[in-house]
Amino acid sequence: MKIIILFFSILAAVSANAQAVADTLCSTPPMGWNSWNCFHRDIDEDKIKEIADLMVSTGLRDAGYTYLNVDDCWQTGRDNSFRIVADEKKFPSGMKALADYVHARGLKFGIYSCAGTKTCAGRPGSRGYEYIDAATYAEWGVDFLKYDWCNNNGANAREAYYIMSDAIRQTGHPIVLSICEWGDNKPWEWGQGIGQMWRISPDIVAVCEGDNYWGGASIFSIIDRMAPLWPYSGPGNWNDPDMLQVGNGDLTYDENVMHFSMWCMFSAPLIFGYDLRSADPKILEILTNREAIAIDQDRLGKQAMMFERTGKYHETWVKELADGGAALCFLNKDDKEWVFDYHFWGFDNIGMDCTGNLYTVRDIWKHKNIGDTKDRYRFKVPAHGVIMLRLTPAE
Ligand code: GLA
Repeated sequence: MKIIILFFSILAAVSANAQAVADTLCSTPPMGWNSWNCFHRDIDEDKIKEIADLMVSTGLRDAGYTYLNVDDCWQTGRDNSFRIVADEKKFPSGMKALADYVHARGLKFGIYSCAGTKTCAGRPGSRGYEYIDAATYAEWGVDFLKYDWCNNNGANAREAYYIMSDAIRQTGHPIVLSICEWGDNKPWEWGQGIGQMWRISPDIVAVCEGDNYWGGASIFSIIDRMAPLWPYSGPGNWNDPDMLQVGNGDLTYDENVMHFSMWCMFSAPLIFGYDLRSADPKILEILTNREAIAIDQDRLGKQAMMFERTGKYHETWVKELADGGAALCFLNKDDKEWVFDYHFWGFDNIGMDCTGNLYTVRDIWKHKNIGDTKDRYRFKVPAHGVIMLRLTPAE
C-alpha cells in the first residue's frame, strides 16, 4: 500500500513539475526574430550571427525580442547514427557553435523541423527520428522548435505533435514547441499541453512592389480567422497568426502599424522577420513601441475580441488588461480614411462600464494621454490603419 502511495506521490510531483515548466515557458507570448520572412532558403551562419549582433545593438533584445530562430534549410541529411546534420557549406561551425554564439549575446536559440518525412523546402524531416532529434537539439542548447506539417503522408496531427512534445519532455531541457500546422486540424482544440503556440492559418504573405496582389489582404484574412478563436488563447497557450511581416513587401507605414497593433491586441507571439542589416529607423520604431508591446505581453494574456463591425470595413476590437483597464483598437480596412465622433459613456460601446468608472485614454502611437472617458472625441483612422488606445482606471 505504502509503495503505491509513494508511486502516486512521485507521479503527482513529476507531473506538477512538468506543468510548472510548461506554464513558465511562455507565460506571455514569445518574442523574437525568424529567418524565413526575409531570407527564405538563403541562410548561413554569418547572416544569423550578424542578426544576433543587430538584435542587441538596435535595442530589440532589450525591448523583449529574445528568441533568434533559424527556419527551414539549415539541415541536409543524417549521419550513420541517424543524427541530423547541418549544411556544412552554410553552417560550417555547426549548430551548437551557433547556439553558443546566440546565447553569449543574451538571446535564446530556435530551430526548425517538420513532422513529415521532409520539410516544406524538401530537407529531412523528423518523422521517425523525433527522439533522436529532440535529444540532439537539447544537446545543442536549443530553446525553441518550430515544427512544420509538410509531407506528413496523412498522419494524425495530434499524435504527430504529441510525439515530438514527448520527445522534448524526455530530454528534460525546456524547449518551446511551436505547432506550425496552419490550422488545418484545429490545433487550438488539442494543442494545449502539447505545444505553447499553434498556427491558425496558411502562411502570411508579403508582396513586393509590382506584384498584382496587395500583401495586406493576407493580414486582413488572418485577422478574420483569429476573431472567433479568443477562447483558446491564454498564458502558456497562444493562437499564432504567423510571423510578423512588419517592414517587408509592399506594406505602407500605416499598414505596418496596423499589422503590429493587431498582433499585440491578439496577444500573438511577436516573431518578426525583417532584415536588420538594412533597417529603416521607422520600422524599428514600430517594432520597439514599448506601449504596444506591453499590451501584447499583458499578464492576463487575453486575446482581443471584435466588439463591433460597422459596415464592411470598420471594426472595434477590445482587449481586457490586468490593471482593470483595456486596450482598444479601431481598425479601418477601407482604402480611405475613417472619420467618426465617439464617446465612451454607457456600457454598450466597448463592454465596459464607462459611466460608473472613469478611465484615462492614451494614444499608443502618439505616446500621449488624449483625455479620459468623459470626453468626446473625433477620430480619424487612416486607410488600412488603426487608432490604438489604452484605457487605464483613473486614480
Ligand atoms: C511553411 C511554414 C513557413 C516556413 C516554410 C519553410 O510554409 O508555414 O512559415 O517555415 O514552411 O519551408
